[in-house]
Amino acid sequence: MSKKSVTITNNETGESVELPLLDGSQGPSAVDIEKLYRDMGILTFDPGFVSTASCRSDITFINGEDGILQYRGYPIEQLAEQSHFLETAYLLMYGDLPNEGQLSNFTRIISHHTMLNESLKNFYNGFHYDAHPMAVMVGVVGSLSAFYHDSLDIRDPEHREISAHRMIAKMPTIAAASYKHNIGEPFIYPRNDLSYCGNFLNMMFSTPCEPYEVDPMMEKALNLLFILHMDHEQNASSSTVRLAGSSQANPFACIAAGIASLWGPAHGGANEAVLNMLEGMGNVDNVDQYIARAKDKDDPFRLMGFGHRVYKRYDPRARIIRKMCHDMLERVSPDNEQGPLFELALRLEEIALNDEYFIERQLYPNVDFYSGIIYRAMGIPNNMFTVMFAIARTVGWVSHWMEMMDDPQQRIGRPRQLYRGAVKRDYQSIVER
Ligand code: CMC
Repeated sequence: MSKKSVTITNNETGESVELPLLDGSQGPSAVDIEKLYRDMGILTFDPGFVSTASCRSDITFINGEDGILQYRGYPIEQLAEQSHFLETAYLLMYGDLPNEGQLSNFTRIISHHTMLNESLKNFYNGFHYDAHPMAVMVGVVGSLSAFYHDSLDIRDPEHREISAHRMIAKMPTIAAASYKHNIGEPFIYPRNDLSYCGNFLNMMFSTPCEPYEVDPMMEKALNLLFILHMDHEQNASSSTVRLAGSSQANPFACIAAGIASLWGPAHGGANEAVLNMLEGMGNVDNVDQYIARAKDKDDPFRLMGFGHRVYKRYDPRARIIRKMCHDMLERVSPDNEQGPLFELALRLEEIALNDEYFIERQLYPNVDFYSGIIYRAMGIPNNMFTVMFAIARTVGWVSHWMEMMDDPQQRIGRPRQLYRGAVKRDYQSIVER
């Protein structure tokens, strides 16, 4: 083999196989093990996918050692500072930043799809008033596949695109409706004259009874948070979307599966868990007790919002959000009730970052550590935090799904296992057991 390769030798049999080493445009190379089972009859074992590249992708790049995140090559810091939601969404979906015409066309299309079918409202009435909004999201998004039979041919690129547009457009409407259902207020229709984030805030906080004006500072902060949450390469929920899509399931079902995966506290559910943790902690006097619990191997408690599979340095998104917290809490009234929570979070971070346990394991604040404080300052309740994440991450999910479906070599994702169960044994009648 002339190209770069890796040789695997079975020390027991002496048998060897040479496997190609694939290079990406940046980041680590990957051993192509596709033929390993065929040629050697052995499998690889990597249950958490720690050393596994599950696909080729051109969308997002992360370098966890240096704390780098790029969307289509653009550093997240530049996009957060200079771009806005729909422009970055276009970038992720189509690969390049749009020109003026492309952006205005994309904006028109997304605005055009913001409304929900009126009969979809009946779904909400089937949920108990205090249903968790993530449960509602999973159900309602999954149900969309029952409404768009005209565009469910996943082999047709136009059908794929319109489904992706529909999901990006409708997600804020579905999310705001789940909140309104919780608090017993009427659903607010989308307003297409507002920005993507402005429209969402209006659907969340306006009522038919009095005028509501979108606060430009909140709109800007939301825009930034949404950009930071938009994609993160092959995380658990994006991988779920890809795996579901690999069986040729329809895109609405795939995104519903992604939402379900995001909900877990080890993933997107961490932002809600962080705020619950900070509130439970109450004040700085209790920080040490929480740190001790996080370090105790007999206690399942973990410091929520800390640690990451890929980042072994400060999560670049957390750095941006931390600064935003500072700016925002300074600008809203000084007696804002989120101030003490932020102080508590800062103190917790300081103690953890100087503690040998966290240093040794390279555990730093992640994207979820500070985001809840900003959402709370906006008036968004804890149980909606993961929903906010889902709205933004929908762009990443549909981009991954479209990339995968566009790949002519796409096959069903079907991992194998290391079987450790009983070996063959004979059935015994019940009286003999
Ligand atoms: N608090 C205390 N100890 C921790 C924490 C934490 N938050 N995170 C990891 N550890 C320890 C863990 O106990 C293990 O210690 P040891 O080597 O002694 O057994 C070591 O650090 C490595 O942890 P791991 O579980 O093997 O790491 P992982 O890559 O499988 O898990 C993680 C990554 C994010 C699930 C984990 O760090 C965690 O549970 N963090 C808290 C939840 C959280 O904030 N999740 C949001 C992730 S970022 C946004 C997103 O993905 O949506």
